[in-house]
Amino acid sequence: MNLVLLFLILPVLGQLPLPNPPYLPPDASTGASPSSGWNTLLGNLLYFYDAQRSGQLQTNRVSWRNSSALNDGKDVGLDLTGGYYDAGDFIKATYPLSFTLMSICWGAADFGAGYDMANQTAYLDSMLRWGLDWLIKAHPAPSTLYVLVGNTDTDDAYWGGDQNIPANRPSYAINDTHPGTDAAAGAAAAFAACSALYSNRGFNGSYAKPASLSNATYAQTLLTHAEQLYTFAVNATGGQKTYQSSVAQVAASYGSSSFGDELTMAALFVSWANSSTQYSQEAQHYFQQYQLSGQNDVFNWDSKTPGVYVLFAQIAQATGGNLTAWQAECERYFDAIVNNQGPAFLTQDGLLYYTGDSDDASLNPALNAAMLLTRYAPMASTSERRDSYQKFAQSQLDYVLGDNSMSVPYVVGSNPNSPSNPHSAMASGGNDIGNIDTSPVQEAYVLYGAVVGGPDKRGKFYDIRSDWPETEVALDYNAPLLTLAAMHVLNDTSDPFYTTLQAGAYDKVRPAGQPCDNAISAGCGSSGLPRPALIAIAVILSVVGAFILGLLLWYIWSLLRA
Ligand SMILES: *[C@@H]1O[C@H](CO)[C@@H](O)[C@H](O)[C@H]1NC(C)=O
Ligand SMILES: *[C@@H]1O[C@H](CO)[C@@H](O)[C@H](O)[C@H]1NC(C)=O
Ligand SMILES: *[C@@H]1O[C@H](CO)[C@@H](O)[C@H](O)[C@H]1NC(C)=O
Ligand SMILES: *[C@@H]1O[C@H](CO)[C@@H](O)[C@H](O)[C@H]1NC(C)=O
Ligand SMILES: *[C@@H]1O[C@H](CO)[C@@H](O)[C@H](O)[C@H]1NC(C)=O
Ligand SMILES: *[C@@H]1O[C@H](CO)[C@@H](O)[C@H](O)[C@H]1NC(C)=O
Repeated sequence: MNLVLLFLILPVLGQLPLPNPPYLPPDASTGASPSSGWNTLLGNLLYFYDAQRSGQLQTNRVSWRNSSALNDGKDVGLDLTGGYYDAGDFIKATYPLSFTLMSICWGAADFGAGYDMANQTAYLDSMLRWGLDWLIKAHPAPSTLYVLVGNTDTDDAYWGGDQNIPANRPSYAINDTHPGTDAAAGAAAAFAACSALYSNRGFNGSYAKPASLSNATYAQTLLTHAEQLYTFAVNATGGQKTYQSSVAQVAASYGSSSFGDELTMAALFVSWANSSTQYSQEAQHYFQQYQLSGQNDVFNWDSKTPGVYVLFAQIAQATGGNLTAWQAECERYFDAIVNNQGPAFLTQDGLLYYTGDSDDASLNPALNAAMLLTRYAPMASTSERRDSYQKFAQSQLDYVLGDNSMSVPYVVGSNPNSPSNPHSAMASGGNDIGNIDTSPVQEAYVLYGAVVGGPDKRGKFYDIRSDWPETEVALDYNAPLLTLAAMHVLNDTSDPFYTTLQAGAYDKVRPAGQPCDNAISAGCGSSGLPRPALIAIAVILSVVGAFILGLLLWYIWSLLRA
């Protein structure tokens, strides 16, 4: 028996034994037939997270990945190896990781029986622990949380495999004197949501049971971290503030816009995990204080308010609270979405689109909305609403899985028409940052199960590797689809939309030329740098702009004075 196989079947201490032989994604061509159902999609979506692993790999199914970044944390005398690379690059970012873990644990509590049915629960357990065990390392003291490992500038300047990642990978933390309310509360919510899952706590009602991975010891460990981080978020001696005001380095990649939504979400999930009425009262308090009612925000790593509405409703239902008030809040929010009342609108070919938030990674807001709608629908006050919510969610899911004007299922390796050039330095096999698109011509490895950014607002998708707004992959892009796939494993008689798409469907409509939503094309007005760099440039430009404006005002003032 060769060594690789031996590693594959050796159990990792504490976690569920992985299937032997392992689940490996089938060739994309099988996605053009009905035999490739929701089980395969669920399996592939989880497989993507294996491909993103950092640190010392043990049971990795992804043959082309190697152990990497084995010195993370040494700069601060800690072991911060492990965890996941955030996207197509190599930073490890706590804030979006926390959101991803929270989202997946919440989904696995509601529709977890889908993981069981698809024989994917051991992979779910393995995926979650790889993230949570790292988050535990990143929280070495009650009021210390590492929020970034890696240097965004060095990282943006590197394009290559996992063996030559630039060694300059500093570790940045928030602490009592330099707090980050959003990042601490976000991590608290992730720990609490996952603690509830590992305690086998579901919301019952019309939901399925949680995935069968309960472990009381692990649940307690997670809860302890959740409670400590929540206290840190609330009571840091440095006060409450966004984490980029303490650690400026995160502003270039994942700066946060506010923290009231995270505080509320954390209080709610901790109250759910430890059954404390005090925490649920605090959640109500923050909800009022930060005026979260009546918002029409997108749901994503930075913006959690819509999730707060749904979680309040679920907890009210599960604990015999007043569901009516939360139904009204949820239905106000969801009715605006399904009735096209803004601020989001439907693109010409049917994608829910939030101007600004959907401009990069257009599928993510739509998938997150579909996930929340699917979760909420069984609680709707009328059957008409339930049906319209489910129908709308299905339309967005179908869109992502190929029912769009490009005939592209936006999950890599799921069908012959899937994207073949995801913006992932590791999967591309290239190391020439000046020629990302052509070196090599064909992506070296198929990044099975990765959800890419998505088409532009005209529905056009160009499948160009350097076009990060459309082709980049990220931990948080996969999360809502995972929950939707688990629900469909349980509840569907029809197969994913892409099973009807035969090879060549995309080639017939593939747009010529260059996309207009990014800069690889001249004349479209934006740059081809990845999201973090772009934000940094925007900040610099506005500083320069303010400076020029200042000069101008000074000049006018001196003219007037003269
Ligand atoms: C539960 O999780 C803990 C912590 O990871 C582990 O040590 C233990 O072996 C697990 N127990 C079972 C029964 O899997
Ligand atoms: C892992 O190492 C092998 C052998 O050196 C190499 O061919 C492969 O490209 C590496 N994987 C990545 C993602 O860099
Ligand atoms: C607290 O965090 C800030 C920002 O990361 C850092 O500069 C400072 O050294 C930290 N303080 C301690 C005592 O570790
Ligand atoms: C924050 O500090 C106050 C005052 O000491 C205390 O009453 C409260 O319980 C603390 N909050 C948390 C979440 O620990
Ligand atoms: C529940 O909330 C609704 C709306 O706020 C209110 O009209 C109703 O009286 C409440 N019901 C109970 C039993 O408190
Ligand atoms: C599952 O499908 C049935 C029948 O279409 C529907 O009534 C039910 O609400 C669905 N469950 C979920 C969680 O969407």
